[in-house]
Amino acid sequence: MPSESRVSAGGPSPGPHAALRAGVAWEVLRQALRRRAEAAGREVLDVLDTGGGSGSFAVPVAGLGHRVTVVDPSPDALFALERRAAEEGVAWESSSAGKARGVQGDTQDLLAVAGPRAYDLVLCHGVLEHVEDPAAALASVAGALRPGGTLSLLVAGVGGAVLARALAGRFTEARVALGDPAGRWGEADPVPHRFTVAGLTALVSGAGLTPGEVHGIRVFADLVPGSLVDTEPDALTALTRLEAEAARQPAFQAIAGQLHILARLPGEL
Ligand SMILES: C[S@@+](CC[C@H](N)C(=O)[O-])C[C@H]1O[C@@H](n2cnc3c(N)ncnc32)[C@H](O)[C@@H]1O
Repeated sequence: MPSESRVSAGGPSPGPHAALRAGVAWEVLRQALRRRAEAAGREVLDVLDTGGGSGSFAVPVAGLGHRVTVVDPSPDALFALERRAAEEGVAWESSSAGKARGVQGDTQDLLAVAGPRAYDLVLCHGVLEHVEDPAAALASVAGALRPGGTLSLLVAGVGGAVLARALAGRFTEARVALGDPAGRWGEADPVPHRFTVAGLTALVSGAGLTPGEVHGIRVFADLVPGSLVDTEPDALTALTRLEAEAARQPAFQAIAGQLHILARLPGEL
């Protein structure tokens, strides 16, 4: 793997709470990048981050030495991405090794703006729950992968939303979300789709990808009062370790705020 020195390759955006929220997904992604680089026999991978926003994953991935293209519809997010990439020494124009750039687009025009079959690893984090047709969007995202390439997919989980509504005393909304095929708690719910592990796995298979390991993300992090984490010495470290262990267990995946899955496009690189 190339030098990791310029950007803190500790993961997305600085700050211990951000690390807690993204920690498991980042670690799984880091290992997937390493495995893909070994399989491809190349140190530098072409990575696409669709809906990558301001680069909270893209910039640390560039910091590992990879070439990262972020496609996002938001000009503000892309501006923030370019600024963050420049600050971290991975601006596309000025870096010869790891670098990140932004391109305006969405899942619909993804292949036109980013190119088909051009990427070793594609991230799609926090996007499918917001699009009208997740299956169509995922087909487009999968079309950007080279044969043998890896998808890193992060979506909102139904169980986490049900639990959060119930713990907030919104019992009817929790019951509505539990029975709704899209995991929505009502008309006012701003999220159009949430997913179960079974639904996510079926979605990935339907896009022609082979589902791999699944992790539950933010099982406890969104439910634990911030004061507990901030005032107890070592609580943040202990909670982060708890999240990492619970992430692998189906019982906790079922109540996670987010679900992460790795998938592979069949074929050889
Ligand atoms: C919740 S943010 C996630 C950002 C980033 N992936 C992360 O994990 O930090 C969702 C992002 O998806 C982008 N987005 C919304 N609709 C999209 C679409 N149809 N195609 C691609 N990106 C989209 C938004 O502009 C926003 O930057």
